[in-house]
Order: sequence, then C-alpha cells, then structure tokens
Amino acid sequence: MTAHIIDGIALSKQLRADVARRAAALRARGVVPGLAVVLVGENPASQVYVRNKVKACEDSGLHSVLERYPATLSEADLLARVDALNRDPAIHGILVQLPLPAHIDAHKVIEAISPAKDVDGFHVASAGALMVGQPGFWPCTPYGCMKMLESIGYDLKGKHAVVIGRSNIVGKPMALMLLQKNATVTICHSGTQNLKALTLQADVVVAAVGKRNVLTADMVKPGAVVIDVGMNRNDEGKLCGDVDFDGVKEVAGWITPVPGGVGPMTITMLLVNTLEAAERG
Ligand code: GUN
Repeated sequence: MTAHIIDGIALSKQLRADVARRAAALRARGVVPGLAVVLVGENPASQVYVRNKVKACEDSGLHSVLERYPATLSEADLLARVDALNRDPAIHGILVQLPLPAHIDAHKVIEAISPAKDVDGFHVASAGALMVGQPGFWPCTPYGCMKMLESIGYDLKGKHAVVIGRSNIVGKPMALMLLQKNATVTICHSGTQNLKALTLQADVVVAAVGKRNVLTADMVKPGAVVIDVGMNRNDEGKLCGDVDFDGVKEVAGWITPVPGGVGPMTITMLLVNTLEAAERG
C-alpha cells in the first residue's frame, strides 16, 4: 500500500485564502494587519526565509515591514527597535528572525516582544499559555502540523503520538498540542534508547530532528500518520526531510512530503497568527 500524501501546498492555499478574506474584512473596518520582520546579519538561509515571509504577507493582503540590520547591531539597539515596534499601532505581529549574531542574547530579545504581538509563539508567556491551555500564540511549525492532522479528519483521542525531537520551537510545543487533543504522547530525543521500539507503537510520528533518515520504513507501524518537519539536503543537494520518504510511504497510511509539506504550513500559520493578532486588536 502507498500512503496518502498530506499536501501542505494545497492546504496552505485554502488557509491563505481564508486569511485574505479575513484581512479584507479588517481593512474594510480600517485595520490593516501588519507584520514586522527583523533580520540581523547576512545568514543566507535567514534571508530566504524572511523574503518568503514578506512575500506571503503581500500575497494575502497583509502589510509587512522588513527591517534589516548589519550583524554589528548592538543588543541595546535591537531591544530599542523591538520596543518601538511594540508601541507601533500599525504593527500587530513582530518576528525577529533567528539565529541572531552571537553577541546578542536571543532569549532577552524574544522576551522583549510584547506577548500580544508574539506571532512566532516563542515568548515564555506564549509557551506558558500553551502549557496550561489558555489563549495565546502557538509556534507556527507545530501549529501547522496540527492543521495537517485536522485536514485529514484525524481524531487524536487515545492515539499514541511519538514526537522525535525536543526543541522549544517544534518538539516540546508539538507534544503539548497533541496532548491537548487527548493523544498519549511520547517525546524522543538523542538520549532515547531503542527509538524503533517506540515508533513502532506510534499511530502518529512527528519527526523534528534536522537529520536525514531518522525514521525509516522498518520503524513505522502500518497505516501510521507520519509528519516530517525536517529540512535537510541529501548528497545531491536536493531538499529532503528527516523521514526516508520513499521507504516509509510504502508502510504509512498518511505522510507529508518534503518539500511541499510542513514548510509552507509554517509560513501559513504565521499569517494566521498575525491576522488573529490584528483581529484581537
Ligand atoms: N529561524 C528559523 N525558523 C524560524 C522561525 O520560525 N521564526 C524565527 N523567528 N526564526 C526562525
């Protein structure tokens, strides 16, 4: 059997059309949803990500401002910019692209963003809100994964979900979101013994490690849902995920491809969060 593909591009198109409709409704009331993206330094991958975020805003009728600063920008000057954006009524969402140069304390900068504008969902107030099930912004990548599960009508109640990876941006919030939907959740990481024994029990596997072939066909229960958050390059330089797609698709029931899976969903959920920030006023 070959798995069904969960198409992140098609789902993004649907969700972005809804964002555009709601943005138009806000504009009719005199509110233009606005996102500020702050990039410090010249990291090539960050430049691509930031460009894609700004373009996605334009395509969906959101206002966006890109602020670029040299890698020599001081921490104090960056904090001053964040403070100004916190007070700017035209800006509803603030995103400081990571990684930041080594002389800047990224945690300090994230904590300086007003939680009401924290559309990345990285502030401890956002993380805390997710933890206790209160309203707040959810980190875009795991939020996008939840939307993908929702799109196939998957009921997580009582299912065993295995998350591979424990980052603050994906693994940990992913586990909390799955738990909130009543899954039984296992978090695996570099110290986990016998990963395969755990993934073989999983109804849902989310791979978020940043390493190729973390999940192979022999590690997957037939019919399982496999979500691949990885963004890696193979030996030929082609984009690939953490999952051995060609092997696993013969065992899984559902699978997300790379590219065209979780990647576009991350940006889509940033648009959704920004729109919601503007709707909340
Ligand atoms: N760097 C890589 N991914 C992200 C992200 O989602 N948000 C921010 N702010 N920086 C990133």
